[in-house]
Amino acid sequence: MTKKVLVLLGSPRRKGNSAILAEQITKGARSGKAKVETIYLHGKNIAPCKACMSCQKKGSKGCSIQDDMQEIYPKLISADAWVIASPVYWFTMSAQTKIFMDRCFALPAYHKDPFRGKRIAIAMTYGDEDSFTSGCVNALRTFQDAYGYTESPIVGMVYGSAMDAGQIRSNEKVMQEAFDLGKKLVAE
Ligand SMILES: Cc1cc2nc3c(=O)[nH]c(=O)nc-3n(C[C@H](O)[C@H](O)[C@H](O)COP(=O)(O)O)c2cc1C
Repeated sequence: MTKKVLVLLGSPRRKGNSAILAEQITKGARSGKAKVETIYLHGKNIAPCKACMSCQKKGSKGCSIQDDMQEIYPKLISADAWVIASPVYWFTMSAQTKIFMDRCFALPAYHKDPFRGKRIAIAMTYGDEDSFTSGCVNALRTFQDAYGYTESPIVGMVYGSAMDAGQIRSNEKVMQEAFDLGKKLVAE
């Protein structure tokens, strides 16, 4: 059966480094015959969670905030795999990515067990040379904790150093790793 992959881009730079790694993952997934849809989070109207807790109430119909997340929730649910791509901003994921993560709190109000078994790929880029001092590892640990909690297997995480938009292309190793991760994401 054709696998569905949803790509969430968390950088304001449409052609930036994290988007380039996500595109490589996409190419790998497409080579495995997957159907891919990409969402550019920065261009969407997505408000931060306001902790009203209405999504957590019994019989809830979902998130009370009527914004662009409402069209993203069903896509998240129907996808077999998610690719989350983010730059490191101030030693963690970008605000756009974090707001998206917080709003996923409401996902169980739309569907039973929406996270369980969802296959996850993470792509991150950072300006520092070191994955630890950049804050990248900090962000990767957050994804590990989040998707460990939701029982969504992280199939792989690709990350590399690059400051200017497009610079990541010269890192052939990580570009190949990203392509391979895309193939693995939709294998089985
Ligand atoms: C607001 C802002 C904060 C940043 N904070 C960090 C940081 O904490 N650590 C780091 O290594 N790089 C940091 N960077 C550099 C970016 O992570 C780097 O340029 C990355 O490749 C951008 O990815 P993108 O092209 O996908 O946007 C920051 C850049 C910006 C604009």
